Amino acid sequence: MNAVTHAPRPAEHAAERTSIPPFEVIRVEANLGAEIRGLDLAGPITGELADLLRNLLWQHQVLFFRDTGIDDAKQAEIGRVFGPPVADSIAKRKGVKDEDIIPFNTGPYSNGYYGTPWHADATYLETPYQVSILRSVIAPDLGGDTAFSSGISAYEALSEEMKRKVEGLDAIHRPNGKAYQLIDDEKELADYLAEYSGTAHPVVITHPFNGRKVLYVNEGFTKELVGLPEDESRELLRYLTHQFYRPENIVRFKWRPGSLAIWDNRSVQHYGVADYGHAQRQLVRIVAQGDRPQR
Ligand code: SIN
Repeated sequence: MNAVTHAPRPAEHAAERTSIPPFEVIRVEANLGAEIRGLDLAGPITGELADLLRNLLWQHQVLFFRDTGIDDAKQAEIGRVFGPPVADSIAKRKGVKDEDIIPFNTGPYSNGYYGTPWHADATYLETPYQVSILRSVIAPDLGGDTAFSSGISAYEALSEEMKRKVEGLDAIHRPNGKAYQLIDDEKELADYLAEYSGTAHPVVITHPFNGRKVLYVNEGFTKELVGLPEDESRELLRYLTHQFYRPENIVRFKWRPGSLAIWDNRSVQHYGVADYGHAQRQLVRIVAQGDRPQR
């Protein structure tokens, strides 16, 4: 970790007007990620705290908190700071409502996934989540980290020629063809895949809140580039998605029970590291609705 800073606060020079006690923002990597210490997330989520959380997130892209002491309901309240809740598209088919909170078990013996490829959540929707929030309930002693990679630094590091090439392109996003094996029934799987048969989003989007350009293709869900011959589309997509593998764009987070990660699902992709054997791992996920991504 580097660069311990005191966060710029709206009322920095008027301490009597803020209810937020001093806190620390510890940047974790040069291009993304900050650990926030000293902000009480278990207490009331005031308008001032909500503004601060949004500002911190649009600035640092992924925020980490330790020992939060929060429960599912408080996590859901934090989620609403960023937008209305929305249920996972697979869970919805099983009757889960947007406002329901479901633990997201990840492990070889669980009802969830074990490791995930690089992806931003649900980009196959017309309005993918703006923000995703994971909280650790059970963490392996070793392994089971989540890695995050920035589409902002990925975009900025492209050559000028590549930026020009991809600027006006659209890409088709579809769910994983096996729905991460979360749907057992074959017909149900076919119906699900038919329902989400492809959504086009710009390859480069403008972030709705900080105005920065974001490379918006991901290995998990982006399947083809519109209007390009198949070979060219595959090759270019491979090049672009591989930018998210670059260590320069990545921060990696080790979970401990009570840890919380809030990420900007428009600018950041994530990857669940599948290296924890048979250890137990439980995360609770809350996501907040976003608008349609814009060029
Ligand atoms: C996810 O891919 O949404 C979960 C990430 C993880 O299990 O670390």
